[in-house]
Amino acid sequence: MSNPTKTHPCSLLCSLIKLIFSLSITLSISFFFFWLIYHPNPIKVHVENASLSLFNLTTTDTTTTTLTYNLTLDISVRNPNKKISIYYDSIEARACYDGERFAFATLPTFYQGHKNTTMLYPSFDGQSLVVGSGTKTRFNTEENDGFYNIDVNGHARVRFKVGWIKIKFKPRANCHLRLALSGGGGGGGFQRTKCDVDL
Ligand SMILES: *[C@@H]1O[C@H](CO)[C@@H](O)[C@H](O)[C@H]1NC(C)=O
Ligand SMILES: *[C@@H]1O[C@H](CO)[C@@H](O)[C@H](O)[C@H]1NC(C)=O
Ligand SMILES: *[C@@H]1O[C@H](CO)[C@@H](O)[C@H](O)[C@H]1NC(C)=O
Ligand SMILES: *[C@@H]1O[C@H](CO)[C@@H](O)[C@H](O)[C@H]1NC(C)=O
Repeated sequence: MSNPTKTHPCSLLCSLIKLIFSLSITLSISFFFFWLIYHPNPIKVHVENASLSLFNLTTTDTTTTTLTYNLTLDISVRNPNKKISIYYDSIEARACYDGERFAFATLPTFYQGHKNTTMLYPSFDGQSLVVGSGTKTRFNTEENDGFYNIDVNGHARVRFKVGWIKIKFKPRANCHLRLALSGGGGGGGFQRTKCDVDL
């Protein structure tokens, strides 16, 4: 004797769909409560100090333009949250000039307790080919001004941890820097710069 209700061909699929459905509802609800109770504040990122000891654009022939650079940064990363600790699982910093990335650096991973600040020291040192046609013009203008506008962007994979709950984020930081060549006499000190952070 066969039992039609138990051998129904859809039953496995149906219960699988039900399981996924209830699982996703449970997840969204816990995420919602997590947000409501702990309302995580974004990570605070500042460039505390910067040294641009080399920034030079050279044109070897009519088609090849090379940027030679040496930029070192002191970056503070603060977790302003009282109850959330953060695992930084990967961090990459990219340096851009005139909208073009010319260098990147991979930074060490770390764990950060609540209300704690960690210092990072990315450095960009090397040469890169410049593709943008307007870059030379911009460089000449900025060279005359004595300040270069360089963007440093951070891309990270993090986990926010509250008790046993861990939630993943991919925050981004954008630091817009106005830098004078260091050791070039004038220039003055570096102005501490706040970076924009998106969770
Ligand atoms: C910033 O860096 C420059 C050059 O590396 C150094 O001379 C200066 O003392 C630093 N400033 C601070 C506030 O650490
Ligand atoms: C910068 O580039 C110019 C040519 O564009 C070159 O003469 C000079 O030596 C370079 N300076 C450095 C520090 O590399
Ligand atoms: C790059 O700059 C840093 C700090 O100003 C300096 O310590 C380092 O020697 C420089 N590297 C090169 C290759 O010039
Ligand atoms: C920040 O973290 C460091 C290293 O984990 C630890 O030694 C220090 O006590 C922490 N500070 C605060 C205020 O939690």
